[in-house]
Amino acid sequence: MSDETLSNLLKEDRRFEPPAEIAEHANLKEEAYERAASDRDAFWAEQAERLDWAEKWDRVLDWDDAPFAKWFVGGKLNASYNCVDRHVEAGRGDKVAIHWVGEPLDDTRDITYAQLKDEVSKAANALTELGVQTGDRVAIYLPMIPEAVVAMLACARIGAPHTVVFGGFSADALASRLDDCQAKVVITSDGGYRRGAPSALKPAVDEARTKTDVVEKVLVVRRTGQDVDWDDAVDVWWHDAVDNASAEHTPEAFDAEHPLYVMYTSGTTGKPKGILHTTGGYLVGTSYTHWAVFDLKPETDVYWCSADIGWVTGHSYMVYGPLANGATQVMYEGTPDAPERGRWWQIIQDYKVTIFYTAPTAIRSFMKQGREIPDRFDMSSLRILGSVGEPINPEAYVWYRHVIGGDRTPVVDTWWQTETGMIMISPLPGVTHGKPGSAMIPIPGISADVVTEEGTSVPHGSGGYLVLTEPWPSMLRTIWGDDERFKDTYWSKYAKEGWYFAGDGAKKDSDGDLWVLGRVDDVMNVSGHRLSTTEIESALVSHPKVAEAAVVGAKDEDTGQAVCAFVILREEAGDGGEDIVEELRNHVRKEIGAIAKPRQIMIVPELPKTRSGKIMRRLLRDVAEHREVGDVTTLADSTVMDLIKDKESSGG
Ligand code: WTA
Repeated sequence: MSDETLSNLLKEDRRFEPPAEIAEHANLKEEAYERAASDRDAFWAEQAERLDWAEKWDRVLDWDDAPFAKWFVGGKLNASYNCVDRHVEAGRGDKVAIHWVGEPLDDTRDITYAQLKDEVSKAANALTELGVQTGDRVAIYLPMIPEAVVAMLACARIGAPHTVVFGGFSADALASRLDDCQAKVVITSDGGYRRGAPSALKPAVDEARTKTDVVEKVLVVRRTGQDVDWDDAVDVWWHDAVDNASAEHTPEAFDAEHPLYVMYTSGTTGKPKGILHTTGGYLVGTSYTHWAVFDLKPETDVYWCSADIGWVTGHSYMVYGPLANGATQVMYEGTPDAPERGRWWQIIQDYKVTIFYTAPTAIRSFMKQGREIPDRFDMSSLRILGSVGEPINPEAYVWYRHVIGGDRTPVVDTWWQTETGMIMISPLPGVTHGKPGSAMIPIPGISADVVTEEGTSVPHGSGGYLVLTEPWPSMLRTIWGDDERFKDTYWSKYAKEGWYFAGDGAKKDSDGDLWVLGRVDDVMNVSGHRLSTTEIESALVSHPKVAEAAVVGAKDEDTGQAVCAFVILREEAGDGGEDIVEELRNHVRKEIGAIAKPRQIMIVPELPKTRSGKIMRRLLRDVAEHREVGDVTTLADSTVMDLIKDKESSGG
């Protein structure tokens, strides 16, 4: 982010006080900050009491082997029991857990906690029947249908860590994830609905199986009814295996540190990182934050998080947090514009949603379409709005609050990561005033700071790196199969201080409130999705016509950042042919998925490199963002940028 944008941001001086009604009945009050800071262990122990433990812990935190944490040491619990059974046992079995809304109109299902318990139990029995044992990994590659939630909870119930792979990822991306965590079973569907049409999923699993042989069984949900290829030795229909299974299943209590799931996310190298979350601390962290940050009143609120289940937001704030809290929530299968642009607002009106959680990229696209669309709907039920995934620009924040929230609703801008598992920095809706563009301060129990390269806390009004200075219950425990990479990536930059390096830049304003500015590493944020420059570069270089590639994230009005690639072709490829750009874009789609498809590809004769051979992405970003190219004195060959600029002006 340029200094100019930054100072414009910091000039933002609109303030919104918490509404009296929310402040008065707020779940967490101002005093919680102080209380949490004065005795952290006691505060987290108090939060852990919101769960049902089969055996209580002896120690809140064991940090002796830092950065490898153990939380609630000696405690035992079952995550699925906590998300489902205990609500039924408490007499809330008839309460709706999920109002599911399919993309085709009138394709809806309301699922109560009692029904969810039966479904999860059946699926757990079916998985056991397929040979899944405690500790085995199960991959889930499903659209946004209730079976996705059921599958996750069934895995948790039998202690088989799940790895959910976003349905938009390609067969190649799926195969590398299956392989990395050695998934024994994949749960998928024939397809799902996307923009009014069925879109196939199973073929990607079939193709992935040709690239890795770890998978023994594929459990297939029938969603769209489209034709699928079938391998009798491997494929099993969900409706055969699950519907016929017993609804009786006794959940076993697992150690608090038993692995709950692995979620792959982009890092700074080509290989995605399998972020490992474990059971006790993760469930404490997600249920606490879902209750505190959204001020959840489970009896009256209707909550909706629009994230896909394939991302961490779907895990923490669609599955584990809300269900552990016994909330009633909406789950929507499709896109915001199917069959027409008001679909989301229609859903909010129909289900009287009170808490809505979405991403800035969505808000910006609605802003562009104009307020006439949301204005057609009655959204007076809304009382709290949330934002996640990337910095929310002040205009989008104010529009969200004003047009969607009718100026009544606080907006909680929540900063967190796949790695943190839970929301870390956010206003509390009944306590903190809102400042458009600022995630404000760490929530009670969390300690963060903005520091210099050397590790000194920056003064108010300055910027630096965002660090987390104390461990927290839902922190990642490691990178699956790679403890060294875990230590290197997050804990080596500030090893002396023992801080977690988040990879984000941030600024403290004159009040000491935090403004997260974006990644400081080679990770891009496109529509709230994390993508690695190196991963896309590797995909491009795997194309036979490509010799070298450099990828940068360029500022984009709609998607936050957009993927821009600079490609050098191999000599024998000549000019690559007329359709080379489209060919390469499609190649990236095939290798990774549609989300990674570059917005722009420039075929260039050279790339700007330092004398030590490092690509200077900063200069490429200048080109992609149509700026004057910055300082080129450290380039090995300073004329390279002229060649690239020439290509650009000729439209190359
Ligand atoms: C960015 C998503 C500014 C940040 C939960 C972080 C944000 C990355 C915010 C994590 C926010 C997320 N303000 N930036 N409120 N929320 N980010 O792992 O760069 O998909 O490091 O987790 O998104 O993305 P991830």
